[in-house]
Amino acid sequence: HVAIIMDGNGRWAKLRGKSRIEGHRRGRASVRAVVEMSRRLGIPYLSLYAFSAENWLRPKDEVSALMSLLEHYLTVEEPKMMRHGIRLLAIGDKDRLPSTVRCTLERTIEATKENKHLTVILALSYSGRSDIVRTVQEIAAKVKEGEYAPEDIDETLISAHTETGSLPDPDLLIRTSGEMRISNFFLWQIPYTELYVTPILWPDFRDKEYLQALTEFQRRQRRFGRTDEQIAKNIPRADRS
Ligand code: IPE
Ligand code: IPE
Ligand code: MG
Repeated sequence: HVAIIMDGNGRWAKLRGKSRIEGHRRGRASVRAVVEMSRRLGIPYLSLYAFSAENWLRPKDEVSALMSLLEHYLTVEEPKMMRHGIRLLAIGDKDRLPSTVRCTLERTIEATKENKHLTVILALSYSGRSDIVRTVQEIAAKVKEGEYAPEDIDETLISAHTETGSLPDPDLLIRTSGEMRISNFFLWQIPYTELYVTPILWPDFRDKEYLQALTEFQRRQRRFGRTDEQIAKNIPRADRS
């Protein structure tokens, strides 16, 4: 499971004397590149942080341009998703999206739901903390109704109630444009996710840059708290699932 914080569209545009919106437009080609490459490599899950809950605070014209780019992207890409067996999911507060975008999104999710090769998870109006808050509320309501006892609450139960309940935790989290922060993307889901930050701005992040990130990931030793020697002896990691 690869997750990507697609950042740096505005800076890419500014460097070229273009509008921020032009940067977002160029960013779509990078989305296409990583989706196609993931499909080709057989990566089963790709999560893309496209719009955070905090991004609603941006100027109105930028927000509406992002929304129409998103709608256009979904409309254009749906046939390709069908041809390549790509399933689309969305996480985040979909109720805040303009109704046209929500409808297009729901239609694409429905049309692609049986596709088996690659699942693309779009994070839209997503907030990692809101995901946790909603999860706690949902579990609390179930405890109140007697469906669970407080002692039934464990990591598995919490994971299952998050928006990514049916997905494995990300193995690799990529952030473009050099910022060393999570910006309220996955919080609960990344205890042992490998982090990869590149100074490349999102519109410049294409096949070569993606392969570089994946190659670097392959060189990492994931220890999950154990020592080198234990890993050499194949001592299993604690079962967190
Ligand atoms: C990422 O690029 C796209 C979104 C957050 C929607 P930015 O628009 O954040 O680009 P910078 O960070 O200003 O360069
Ligand atoms: C994070 O980028 C959100 C997305 C890439 C969708 P931001 O540009 O919003 O993050 P900050 O504000 O620099 O932390
Ligand atoms: Mg940014």
